[in-house]
Amino acid sequence: MTHQELRQKFLLFFQQRGHKVVPSSSLIPDDPSVLLTTAGMQQFKPYLTGQADPMNAFGSRNVFSIQKSFRTTDIDEVGDLSHLTFFEMVGNFSFGDYFKERAIPLSFEFLTSSEGMNIDPEKIFVTAFSGDNEIPRDDEAVALWQEQFGKAGIDAKVGERIFLYGREKNWWEGGPGPAGPDAEMFYDFGIPHDFKFGPECHPNCDCGRFVEIGNDVFVQYNKTQDDTYEPLLQKAIDNGRGFERLVMVAQGKKNIFETDLFAPFLELLPAEIDIRHKRIIADHLRASIFLITDGVRPANKERGYILRRLMRRALVYENMYNIPPHVFDAIIHDYVHEYGEFYPELMRENDAIREEFIKEKQKFGKTLNFGVKELNSRKDEEIDAVLAFKLYESYGLPYEIIKELGGKRARGLTRENFDIEFKKHQEISRAGQEKKFGGHGLLLDTGELKAADERELKIVTRLHTATHLLNAALHRVLGEGVEQAGSDITVERTRFDFVFPRKVTSEEIKK
Ligand code: ALA
Repeated sequence: MTHQELRQKFLLFFQQRGHKVVPSSSLIPDDPSVLLTTAGMQQFKPYLTGQADPMNAFGSRNVFSIQKSFRTTDIDEVGDLSHLTFFEMVGNFSFGDYFKERAIPLSFEFLTSSEGMNIDPEKIFVTAFSGDNEIPRDDEAVALWQEQFGKAGIDAKVGERIFLYGREKNWWEGGPGPAGPDAEMFYDFGIPHDFKFGPECHPNCDCGRFVEIGNDVFVQYNKTQDDTYEPLLQKAIDNGRGFERLVMVAQGKKNIFETDLFAPFLELLPAEIDIRHKRIIADHLRASIFLITDGVRPANKERGYILRRLMRRALVYENMYNIPPHVFDAIIHDYVHEYGEFYPELMRENDAIREEFIKEKQKFGKTLNFGVKELNSRKDEEIDAVLAFKLYESYGLPYEIIKELGGKRARGLTRENFDIEFKKHQEISRAGQEKKFGGHGLLLDTGELKAADERELKIVTRLHTATHLLNAALHRVLGEGVEQAGSDITVERTRFDFVFPRKVTSEEIKK
């Protein structure tokens, strides 16, 4: 089945089992605790904790979604067999209706029945929470798993088919809000265990035999801002399954990049490119397209910085391998049309996507060429952390590119010593700021506002208000499309950065 067909099949499976299908929310979450949407549960937090009424919002206590998600923590892992930045999360949720007693059988049915994934139950291994001094071992989940496997003729023993882990593996929370122990499902590739990873294999072993394909979180707590866990009045289910991994298993592939989610796009790249780099390009272009579609624009901080980093890394490879420009154009075009069938917003934002790529390439191209030239001109020089940081600071060459382009000369360069250099520099610039403010310590430094005493505080507060007025005025005069990109306020002046797609006329500036 194609990825498109699988999406439709999954929607139908949960619809037929009493779930209301809810569209994916934006990658830019309402939830201020995260920069980007990291899981299906994000848009449902108030329903999971019982603060909002799901009947009002969805007409059902049980919902299903395929959610656009993004995990920045995995950026450096991309290039191997299974890591991605942007991914899709397939999940069913229950807000105070069913709990473990239905969630586990439903997950098992989804994985093993012909209406779901149709996986041989022998290939499935599962986990549950082992308990600690606060929360008991999840014997209920163990018994439910045993019942399911039993029906399939499998005697599921703990330590053989069912594995128990503590909080580090079988507990889930996404910032403040819903939290609880969980139960995970794994697919067994059946490859022999690699003893490099320990004497015995188990689902969470890193040897590559198992891949996680599902997680049922048994939501019973609300994690507060000060990290305490309040028991919830209602119990809820938050389930998540990585769509790309499900497609991989359904299509009988050994890695996600061989599925039809990626393979046709990788094929557009010249054959001689290193496979790791091909995967990074495929991931980063796809992720950038989805971020731009949801309104993120390249910038120097937060979401915009993440997007810029993805786009620039792909552009570095384009430059490094002399990939003709029409190749990225074709990949972007094909992604938009292929994924646009399920996410029509991609089609609507097609022009913006192309424009942002053109703009970023123009901006970055020159810098990149200077940086690469500089790197190459130091032919016999060893590239240590000090030089690497200098190249990073002056030309925006990312660490991994310096490491790659540097080849043998960058042998001694590690992420760790690069980070140390980075931190050193941050401290120097911070010390510089303090000096500027008379060395008596900063009263306020939010990164946007800086004030050293009460008098200065009054001034910057006024300037901060002025910034808001300016932002409002810009929206009034220029309309939609004005986007704040930063603001920097000192006692002498306020600075306000914004992006706008065209040149502002002098008439408009006067207004
Ligand atoms: N929220 C859970 C996860 O992301 C399902 O694994």
